[in-house]
Amino acid sequence: MTEKHYAVAVDGPSGAGKSTLAKAVARELRITYVDTGAIYRVIGLAAFRKGVAPRDEAAVSAMLPSIEIGMKHGDDGLQRMYLNGEDVTDDIRLPQISMYASDVSALPPVRAFLLDMQRRLAREQSVVMDGRDIGTVVLPDAEVKIFLTADAEVRAKRRFLELEQRGTPKPYDEVLAELKERDYNDSHRDVAPLKQAEDAVLVDTSDLDFEQSRTLLLRTIREKIGK
Ligand code: DC
Repeated sequence: MTEKHYAVAVDGPSGAGKSTLAKAVARELRITYVDTGAIYRVIGLAAFRKGVAPRDEAAVSAMLPSIEIGMKHGDDGLQRMYLNGEDVTDDIRLPQISMYASDVSALPPVRAFLLDMQRRLAREQSVVMDGRDIGTVVLPDAEVKIFLTADAEVRAKRRFLELEQRGTPKPYDEVLAELKERDYNDSHRDVAPLKQAEDAVLVDTSDLDFEQSRTLLLRTIREKIGK
């Protein structure tokens, strides 16, 4: 007998720990983790490479038919991303692509282009899907909705340390300013802005470490789905 699929929507601002936590939780629940930000990043990267201004709706729209986005989940749970067949998993993480992704994600044709892809993934399997509008727009019927957040300063500090570890350091003030700009961008766009769904559980990780956050998330999910 096949079990009914279920979906866990994890939304929140950048740097709240969504991807690390969603990935860990998916592994524990033995279901697929889908990072939707990575999909917007592929479109951001495509615009960057083609020299298309990421806020130019007409130009970005014109580019969409020539983009084929691929996604593969390895046994290690890692989500690899492809742009017209090329593995761009590392390229989409380049710091300059973050703002491109945020800019293209505000364009209605881009969101429409990606909606089906995201919904299909959740129909085919149980997922933990992270993003900005998963609980509000993409999967409004998700069994569990979590809004994961933390103070901007705490998120900037985490990003600052991450960049340092990755060997691409940046001054803290710059990291904080960029994060605030992206928060503003993502929360104030007209289409599917970042906001907490009415039925989402708010989880603030400002004062929690990774293990405490993971435990809290798993408890919340298990209470909801009874597993
Ligand atoms: O999660 P991330 O930082 O990799 O996402 C990159 C950008 O994509 C982010 O600034 C906003 C956008 N995004 C979105 O609009 N909707 C989603 N579901 C996921 C990401």
